[in-house]
Amino acid sequence: MRVLLTGGMGFIGSHTAVVLQEGGHEPVLYDNLSNADRAVTGRIEQITGKAPKFIEGDIRDQARMEEVLRDEKIDAVIHFAGLKAVGESVVKPLEYYDNNIIGTLRLLEAMRATGVKRLIFSSSSTVYGTPQSLPLRESDPTGEATNPYGRTKLQIEEILSDLCRADPTWSCICLRYFNPIGAHPSGLIGEDPNGIPNNLMPYVARVASGRLPVLNVFGNDYDTPDGTGVRDFIHVMDLARGHAAALPYCMSHEGWKAVNLGCGRGYSVLEIVAAFEKASGRKVPVNFAPRRAGDIAANWADPSLARELFGWEAQCNIEDMCRDGWNFEQHRAAELAQKQS
Ligand code: WQD
Repeated sequence: MRVLLTGGMGFIGSHTAVVLQEGGHEPVLYDNLSNADRAVTGRIEQITGKAPKFIEGDIRDQARMEEVLRDEKIDAVIHFAGLKAVGESVVKPLEYYDNNIIGTLRLLEAMRATGVKRLIFSSSSTVYGTPQSLPLRESDPTGEATNPYGRTKLQIEEILSDLCRADPTWSCICLRYFNPIGAHPSGLIGEDPNGIPNNLMPYVARVASGRLPVLNVFGNDYDTPDGTGVRDFIHVMDLARGHAAALPYCMSHEGWKAVNLGCGRGYSVLEIVAAFEKASGRKVPVNFAPRRAGDIAANWADPSLARELFGWEAQCNIEDMCRDGWNFEQHRAAELAQKQS
């Protein structure tokens, strides 16, 4: 199948492109490179033996999107493109609504105009807000988002649901990601945010390699076994395989569906630190700091719906996630050292 990946050069998009190519599909990567590197296509070629097609463009450019959907004979779209930094979204709400909401509306209009009505959307477990019970099931109520980024995910889910209700020939699957970490085992692609990372795993990796001095652990007084936050971490390769598994379902079913992609168990911040120290053989010094605004104590998924509908379940454990995250960090650190010399 010919699948358009908006935001295909980013962290989750690039791993999904690898899995799709290895499964015999033809991904077309559409990205404005606002938070991605042009070198990604060459890295995918190193991994799979073939460079995917890359088109530089913005999802808010509807005419361009229509052209691409038509010219590339696209069968389905996986929509990753969007801004995703929680803290930044509080400071720049208009940018977040413009990129994420307006961008999605333009994409949907282009899809309607070209008759491509198959969409898989990058949603997030953030749509559940503060969990009333765990594990989280898709039938649980969505909650109050604590920031503009989270609100855009929830609003897009609702837009897609309204669209499917108005025109039942659409198929829209919202994949609710828990916390994706790790990297492709080759170390060639992974997550390397610009500046100081917001998310736990890239931060831990940089402390282990000495690029940052100490990890601030945000809160150790939560109602969790060791007092630190608990999350359902999932290997990005498992997440990528989840998209490939959702594709046949999306092609053969109509209507709106939300589906969790998680492992179904939680690890605390301190458990992640210990697992990363073991994988890397390095010490990760920690400093206990106050809770971060908007954080919840714990969340993890009930991943049984994805198994039922797509025949998918996560295969990688926390050791795999830390090993591959560390391998990627070492590749990046070596590249940076080479550039500086
Ligand atoms: C995990 C835990 C922190 C950094 C967010 C978004 C979500 C998704 C992924 C994005 C928490 C603690 C973190 C640090 C720490 N979106 N932590 N020190 O907040 O669960 O999810 O990112 O693309 O929608 O909400 O992930 O990795 O930021 O935090 O102690 O330096 O690690 O407090 O308990 P989160 P995270």
